[in-house]
Amino acid sequence: MMIGITGTPGTGKTTVAHELCARGHMVTALSTTITPYIIERDEVRDTLVIDEESWAREFPRVEGFVEGHLAHLLPCDLIVVLRCRPDVLAGRLRARGYPEAKVRENVEAEALDVALIETLEEFRGDQVLEIDTTERDFGECASLIEEFSQGKIPPSFGNIDWSGYLGEEV
Ligand SMILES: Nc1ncnc2c1ncn2[C@@H]1O[C@H](COP(=O)(O)OP(=O)(O)OP(=O)(O)O)[C@@H](O)[C@H]1O
Ligand SMILES: [Mg+2]
Repeated sequence: MMIGITGTPGTGKTTVAHELCARGHMVTALSTTITPYIIERDEVRDTLVIDEESWAREFPRVEGFVEGHLAHLLPCDLIVVLRCRPDVLAGRLRARGYPEAKVRENVEAEALDVALIETLEEFRGDQVLEIDTTERDFGECASLIEEFSQGKIPPSFGNIDWSGYLGEEV
């Protein structure tokens, strides 16, 4: 089985993936697979532009967890969408030294449910688990993901509404 872990930058994908790895699961960090597909560096947005279509098309089928903000573009069997309340997400991104424009762009995307909406464009609802990481530590998140992947907890999504944070200072 291939299980994706996606979400806005800062929601904790890499952190939870490290924990899953420590628990003995196979984990692929998608950031290590994009190099051949880089088109350019977007200096203004301080981000890499990659040929997402070719990357997704040529991605080999792997076993275990695949972690990264483009995981929902891959043909995963199950997909986990990590979420984080916008004000808390802003704190995590600032702590990482992200410039303010990049903090705002990501916080806005999170408040607009962009990662979930993109996921639901590619997957059936019964393949999707949305996890609010705001008040869960990475160990709890890892346990939920393990249980979901084992069919012990059902798919669920759509219980998060952060529209109140849209356009707010965070
Ligand atoms: N469950 C959590 N609770 C509190 N803080 C967390 C949690 N998960 C991650 N963090 C913290 O949030 C920050 C971002 O986490 P992480 O790097 O795992 O995010 P990411 O989703 O992989 O981001 P990116 O898409 O940029 O790679 C880190 O400082 C991490 O310690
Ligand atoms: Mg990461």
